[in-house]
Amino acid sequence: LENIFEVFPVVTSERLMLRAMKRDDAESIYQILSDPEVIRYDTVDLFTSIDQAKTLIDYFQQAYNKKKAIFWGISMKNDSKIIGFCKCEIECPGVRVDLGYDLNSAYWNRGIMTEALEVLIDFIWSDIKVNRIEAAVSTNNKSSIRVLEKVGFQCEGILRERSFFKGKYHDMMMLSLLKKDCIENVL
Ligand SMILES: CC(C)(COP(=O)(O)OP(=O)(O)OC[C@H]1O[C@@H](n2cnc3c(N)ncnc32)[C@H](O)[C@@H]1OP(=O)(O)O)[C@@H](O)C(=O)NCCC(=O)NCCS
Repeated sequence: LENIFEVFPVVTSERLMLRAMKRDDAESIYQILSDPEVIRYDTVDLFTSIDQAKTLIDYFQQAYNKKKAIFWGISMKNDSKIIGFCKCEIECPGVRVDLGYDLNSAYWNRGIMTEALEVLIDFIWSDIKVNRIEAAVSTNNKSSIRVLEKVGFQCEGILRERSFFKGKYHDMMMLSLLKKDCIENVL
């Protein structure tokens, strides 16, 4: 685990590069989080200034320095602009991580987050070395649930009114992927 916190682990896929974000990326992050469609199922409030994006990027870096989480910015390989990001929070080292992600709505439904999660999942098994990856998603967030299902996550149940956002309580679906699910699929 030490290695991945010494040098930021850049991860690539066929079309994408997942890399550390810096303050220069604030405009791109602002574009993502100032879009009501992106934050519709999230506890975060709509961003109204670039400064909020700068503060968030600082938080990403602090979380990494404290070895609590890795936030990857997603870009197309041929363009450095950040079009989305993924969070892998190390909730319990050696045991489980929590996933999160957001994509600029101009890029939705092109398989981008599915592609990003596929390589991140491989990275989590090989380098973060936990047994379980989990994600909690609003039951109304159909595209997010679909992405997780496409990469092999299973629904474990509904956590009733677990989150409060956009003025009301929301049921959340807990989904998970275990290392053995992936290994069994390969065999
Ligand atoms: C969730 C999100 C990351 C998906 O990214 P993406 O790159 O568009 O995902 P993909 O293209 O890989 O896959 C989307 C899938 O959802 C499906 N989908 C899209 N809208 C849907 C809807 N309203 N109902 C059902 N399925 C839907 C697509 O058809 C596709 O499935 P398919 O390949 O079987 O056709 C993106 O929509 C997003 O950023 N949403 C806002 C932020 C968010 O919800 N983050 C997650 C919080 S848990």
